[in-house]
Amino acid sequence: MDIDRLRERLAEAGQSHLLQFWNELSPEEQTEMSQDLEGMDFKEINGFFKSAMETSSQAKQEKVDSRMEPVPREVLGSVTRDRESLKDWEKEGLRCIAQNKVAVLLLAGGQGTRLGVPYPKGMYDVKLPSHKTLFQIQAERILKLQQLAEQQHNTKCCIPWYIMTSGRTMESTKEFFSRHSYFGLSQDNVIIFQQGMLPAMDYSGKIILESKGKLSMAPDGNGGLYRALDTQKTIEDMQIRGISCIHVYCVDNILVKVADPAFIGFCALKGADCGAKVVEKTNPTEAVGVVSKVDGRYQVVEYSEITLATAERRSSDGRLMFNAGNVANHFFSLSFLSDVVKTYEPQLQHHVAQKKIPYVDTQGQLIKPDKPNGIKMEKFVFDIFQFAKKFVVYEVLREDEFSPLKNADSQDGKDNPTTARHALMSLHHRWVLNAGGHFTDENGTRVPAIPRHGPAGSVSPGVTQNLKDGTDLPIKCEISPLVSYGGEGLEELVNGHEFRPTLVIDKDGLHQLVKNGL
Ligand code: UD1
Repeated sequence: MDIDRLRERLAEAGQSHLLQFWNELSPEEQTEMSQDLEGMDFKEINGFFKSAMETSSQAKQEKVDSRMEPVPREVLGSVTRDRESLKDWEKEGLRCIAQNKVAVLLLAGGQGTRLGVPYPKGMYDVKLPSHKTLFQIQAERILKLQQLAEQQHNTKCCIPWYIMTSGRTMESTKEFFSRHSYFGLSQDNVIIFQQGMLPAMDYSGKIILESKGKLSMAPDGNGGLYRALDTQKTIEDMQIRGISCIHVYCVDNILVKVADPAFIGFCALKGADCGAKVVEKTNPTEAVGVVSKVDGRYQVVEYSEITLATAERRSSDGRLMFNAGNVANHFFSLSFLSDVVKTYEPQLQHHVAQKKIPYVDTQGQLIKPDKPNGIKMEKFVFDIFQFAKKFVVYEVLREDEFSPLKNADSQDGKDNPTTARHALMSLHHRWVLNAGGHFTDENGTRVPAIPRHGPAGSVSPGVTQNLKDGTDLPIKCEISPLVSYGGEGLEELVNGHEFRPTLVIDKDGLHQLVKNGL
């Protein structure tokens, strides 16, 4: 280790403070720290800091309201308004899957700070009757979809699953998949790779030390994907496998339709290189980004980037004008992704997140600040929309496809394990009803066939947002993805039968009291 050379490099970059406790470190700590520092490009990091701070202060000064337009109808497909096309889209998607052209890519490098568990979010059990984790639910949806495509096209196929992790989630994710035998998927088709990390910095651009011998590091945002696709040779792997379209999604949505054939078919038939799935935003203050056009280019505009007056604007039909709520489900063609990786990635700006970052002060004391003291820099996955040649938007129903797990149960009753569990069980309850099954309560009385709607803006029918009183619970019903991907194939199991909750349908059959066949 050439410590003098390292000191010189740090001095040139204005980061000499990083070695202020050098002499107090053990030889092992010194080796580890010097290895961390050797691998870092300080000139680049300082450049990121400068331009991220500039962009962020510009963004604070000028809201984008006046430059914003809603998504035009001609790029929009909707599961409700274009019902007659759904079957064609789905057929096309399944055809692409059967031809081994479709891959899914899971963004799972986040730290899940809000949920507050020390392990990757995909390993979380929201306490469904089966106790399946998010990873297992997603794996089983992939298995089922492969099977459906195989049955329809009489051929063997596979949907490779790329999983982006970070320095914080890689080992535990790998270990979890290995321990669970990849949930029945072939190990070769589960490709776990790692995104980059960036140091946290104070407001003057100094890298923060989290201990005397360790820098405070964080993953570089879900848009770190594009760099990782290159450095980890993931894009090459996709090319070798002959993939042509990729469904990218976030780990936390329990309802996610992994490799959704209708979405893929819609994008493919429209000749799109880039697509975004959205749900209708109905509440102006809901903190989701909206897909819109700014200066003629598509992007996701975060809630904080527009005024309330713009968020509240309504069209003549009474709906919010900017209502294309981003659910972090994206379609990319492989050629578009390759262009991004080769050409556009360096043009993506880091976003600034102000954070309370624990640090050691000049006396070596660990301080846990009570207000933000520095920033983390992150690229966003959707910032490449602006480079698309043909961009499309696909609108789906929130109650069918979107219930993210963000917070712990003790917080404000939103986007937590309880709402996620209830959203899934409520969806499965509706599947049973649609397939001709019914539920009875403990007195043998039929539960009304139309699930009760929660209050306005509720997460999904039958689920109330205010779950704290525990009075409006959904029917306990869980259907394994190995049995049904999207509600199909249930008639022969449930039609004409009455069930007492809890009903679990898995690959071994029905588990509950079937009271009486009708
Ligand atoms: C994200 C979307 C937001 C959308 C919302 C819907 C982004 C930037 N924002 O917000 O527009 O309305 O989901 O639920 O996509 N991740 C990584 N690496 C990182 C950071 C995050 O892989 O460095 C992954 C996470 O594991 C997660 C996903 O990206 O799967 C989303 O990250 P999160 O920070 O939870 O985004 P949100 O703020 O919830």
